[in-house]
Amino acid sequence: MPSSTISPLADAPPAVHASASHARKARFWDRVAVKYAADPIVDPAGYESTLWRVQGLLTTDMDVLEIGCGTGTTALRLARHTRRLLATDFSPAMIAIARQKLTDQPMQQLSFAVADADEPMAGQGEYDAVLAFNLLHLVDDLDRALQLAVRALRPGGLLISKTACISEMNPLIPWLAIPLMRAIGKAPHVLCFDAKALKAAIVRQGMVIESVERHGTRGKDFRVFIVARKGDAA
Ligand SMILES: C[S@@+](CC[C@H](N)C(=O)[O-])C[C@H]1O[C@@H](n2cnc3c(N)ncnc32)[C@H](O)[C@@H]1O
Repeated sequence: MPSSTISPLADAPPAVHASASHARKARFWDRVAVKYAADPIVDPAGYESTLWRVQGLLTTDMDVLEIGCGTGTTALRLARHTRRLLATDFSPAMIAIARQKLTDQPMQQLSFAVADADEPMAGQGEYDAVLAFNLLHLVDDLDRALQLAVRALRPGGLLISKTACISEMNPLIPWLAIPLMRAIGKAPHVLCFDAKALKAAIVRQGMVIESVERHGTRGKDFRVFIVARKGDAA
């Protein structure tokens, strides 16, 4: 497969009734939520670099939306650098854990909600930044999810993303390991693309790419950090 294409690794589900599809899609993540919350961060130094970088882009007069927030670890670290951070995930189990963390560590700028990044959300043109960390390779349709994220931004707003580029991994991972793991319910649906294809998809939405970085500190880093600004064309 050419490296700059985007394709689902497994059979893309047909467009079925939104709520049934949503519940089915979130099932994998609901099942792994408790373990995900307990697992240590794989590359703490790389994670801190990303947080430091994102903090530098945020200001306390910004309204921010996070999509695919998981159990809220990053949102809890970033909220105090914003005026308001709404962190969303389509997995009710992930959001339940995030809300418990927020109860334990209250922060008035932060709230959590269940929402699917593949579906339109309320709040068009309401945000100064949209954050998507370790999410864009997991959505059903990259162009559609990006279109919705961009639609949520005010003119000049920032899309800040960190994304696993599965096409950049050893080919045995996307073409053997992940399908096998999917077959036994141990891996989610993933999209297979490289950084070049991801950048092109972001630009297709009228965004202007400001920065492309890699923050990993352990071996080859297949996760690309991209900052893009909503231009006049978006
Ligand atoms: C790998 S985890 C990343 C969580 C968090 N952003 C982080 O960096 O630790 C992916 C998260 O995206 C969520 N997710 C996957 N597809 C989604 C979608 N279409 N809409 C919203 N959330 C989604 C999953 O439920 C999961 O919590």
